[in-house]
Amino acid sequence: MFKISDTVTWVGKIDWELNRFHGDEYSTHKGSSYNSYLIRDEKTVLIDTVWQPFSKEFVENLKKVIDLKEIDYIVINHSEIDHSGALTDLMEEIPDTPIYCTKNGAKIIKGHHHKDWNFVEVKTGDTLHIGKNKLIFVEARMLHWPDSMMTYMSGENILFSNDAFGQHYASELMYNDKVDREELYNEALKYYANILTPFSKFVIGKIEEVVALNIPIEMICPSHGIIWREDPLQIVNQYMEWANSYQENQITIVYDTMWNGTRRIAEAIAEGIKSKDKDVDIKLFNCAKRDKNDIITEIFKSKMVLVGSSTINNGILTAVAGILEMMKGLKFTNKKAAAFGSYGWSGEAVKIITQQLKDAKFDVVNEGIRELWNPDEEALERCREYGRSLV
Ligand code: FEO
Repeated sequence: MFKISDTVTWVGKIDWELNRFHGDEYSTHKGSSYNSYLIRDEKTVLIDTVWQPFSKEFVENLKKVIDLKEIDYIVINHSEIDHSGALTDLMEEIPDTPIYCTKNGAKIIKGHHHKDWNFVEVKTGDTLHIGKNKLIFVEARMLHWPDSMMTYMSGENILFSNDAFGQHYASELMYNDKVDREELYNEALKYYANILTPFSKFVIGKIEEVVALNIPIEMICPSHGIIWREDPLQIVNQYMEWANSYQENQITIVYDTMWNGTRRIAEAIAEGIKSKDKDVDIKLFNCAKRDKNDIITEIFKSKMVLVGSSTINNGILTAVAGILEMMKGLKFTNKKAAAFGSYGWSGEAVKIITQQLKDAKFDVVNEGIRELWNPDEEALERCREYGRSLV
């Protein structure tokens, strides 16, 4: 626990052990944190809690800082259980304390905790006077759940942004001016790419709405990872860039392979691209061996994605099917794509991948390339030529 301003104390949990989040859907190589904030003005307010497994530890630690009965209000910006998880234990101690959240938030909290607590439903612009400071609620629907909201504290000008602007990044340093900048950037980018990409149009709309309010922001306190204290608006500007069909000069080649035929095709295509364009960054990933979320982050950065699979049982390899499912759900925009693969007899993989890329709204540039069995030199030259043609 540590003070982050005159009135605000961080009372969350740093989870150094976490290596998977959302079940098995998100790899957290650098752990995470569940940030909870205690505001002590004339009124005392708790903003968000922590993930359920740390619930009892959270309540015990909170008791060391404050008599729980002194908490006047609880604000739950987002009902997902990594933030509302400690409510059941906490509310056993202070069952009548009002919980401020959105209408959807109340519904979802009830769905997870099965308790009808004293919910106070708030909308954008609703305020709560707490003394020298005032809390202003800003709904943030679909950033990234229907219930999400942010809470702005005027006076000290702090935005409690919940998931938005967060990162799955454990650090005892806790501030953006103290941690390794590259690590922070990479984790914030991975978080955006894997969680927020489908909601990019809402990101743009919400940022424009908040900017139009012209409110000063001295600190952004998300619910995961480090706090943006130095030039806090840098992450807001970065989100605007990421939300606008972000791409770098990169082509990502993702594949799985049974007997290395599809791998050799992938490498030959990469050679062809490189022979014609020395500047483009080409990255190859075997999706059965590499982390799926890291691959998604690379796809997010790419202007073109090539997806390859051997044909098996008239279909595609399961690791490729998994990545394609993620690519569809994340609703990438403004990215070109094509398929490739080796085959033995029926050879449907390239057709299947091409169709799935179209369904996922990628701009498929051609019908792809497939080669029989393990490609010989002649076949590899066709693949190099295919790569050159993509440039
Ligand atoms: Fe960090 Fe959407 O929960």
